Amino acid sequence: MILLFVLISSFATFSLTAKEIDKQTGLKIDKGFEQVKANCTVCHSAKFITFQKGDRQTWLSMIRWMQRTQGLWEFDKKTENLILDYLEKNYPPGKASRRPNLKPKDLPKL
Ligand code: HEC
Repeated sequence: MILLFVLISSFATFSLTAKEIDKQTGLKIDKGFEQVKANCTVCHSAKFITFQKGDRQTWLSMIRWMQRTQGLWEFDKKTENLILDYLEKNYPPGKASRRPNLKPKDLPKL
């Protein structure tokens, strides 16, 4: 009986923390998802987003680039922030984009 309770409660915690994926777009469901789905999957597949990773500045410059050259419309500040919050949080730069840490023996001697 206790075991069953533990099983159920750990499953409940798991489903609360695990990100659900929208079947239609492949995007993670989180705050701002609706705005991203509505604005960012019109011209191209959401794979452009899920394959791409970046910090807030990178995402913002991609959006500005599309606005300048690809006919992407302007967002009001609130929507833009929701979109950037979502992208920054769910598609942050991967570990591979960082230079690996140097081993102590490879550090320059002072
Ligand atoms: C008006 C049409 C349009 C909308 C809406 C749009 N994009 Fe794009 N986007 C494009 C085009 C066109 C490209 C370039 C496609 C190519 O390279 O073949 C592109 C490329 C991209 C890329 C790939 C950039 C790269 O470096 O290759 C990403 C990521 C992206 N868009 C994200 C978004 C996000 C996030 C949104 C919502 C804020 C969005 N797009 C909305 C037109 C649009």
